[in-house]
Amino acid sequence: MNSSVKNVVCFVGFLVINSFLQSSADPTDGFTNVPLTEANFEIQRPYNVPLDERYSFENGIRKMWVYANDKPHSPNSETQPRTEVRIHGLDYTSGVWQFEGYGFVPNGTSGATVAQIHGAAHDSSTIILRIYNGDMRYYSGDVIATGMYDRWFKLNLIHDVEGGTVTVYIDDEQKFQTQDRGRSQFYFKCGVYAAPRDISYYMESRWRDIKIYKK
Ligand SMILES: *[C@@H]1O[C@H](CO)[C@@H](O)[C@H](O)[C@H]1NC(C)=O
Repeated sequence: MNSSVKNVVCFVGFLVINSFLQSSADPTDGFTNVPLTEANFEIQRPYNVPLDERYSFENGIRKMWVYANDKPHSPNSETQPRTEVRIHGLDYTSGVWQFEGYGFVPNGTSGATVAQIHGAAHDSSTIILRIYNGDMRYYSGDVIATGMYDRWFKLNLIHDVEGGTVTVYIDDEQKFQTQDRGRSQFYFKCGVYAAPRDISYYMESRWRDIKIYKK
């Protein structure tokens, strides 16, 4: 090999190692943890049913479920049914924010948004992560990850407001990045929120070790 070929081989090797190190790095590196209390966890559920018929919190696991024919979370709302944690008291309009949590979606749940960043200039959300038949999709479009049923997965969702980007990590691997949908007031949610169509009758997700970080 002549020296310029060696240099190219060496450089490509460096890129491979570098991208390996980047993709396996902790997504929270460089972020500061924002301490949470139970007051930060507001639960939204069908307005006409008691909380314990759609939500439980045992052994650190928040289990949320909803039915396709449930009412919205408020009598004044015409949105689809949901049972969701709405991170309360940490709405943001600037900076870099991150949601971390371990999620579990049972096989049978389909057409449910399991995590989202609420708020956008041109829409009601910046990103929606939906489960369809075991795949996680960006809204009802691009597949972000597959094989999501019946296992705990780690989700890290990073929103860089000034940069206008959202990045999704599953099990510490970067799976997806996209532009956000313009500046607004934002907050994180997780649970189950029915998509407009193609939904299972029963929808459930479980969440534990939810953390919020910022830069
Ligand atoms: C869900 O469970 C059914 C019944 O056991 C199985 O046939 C199907 O392949 C599973 N779906 C996924 C996406 O794992």
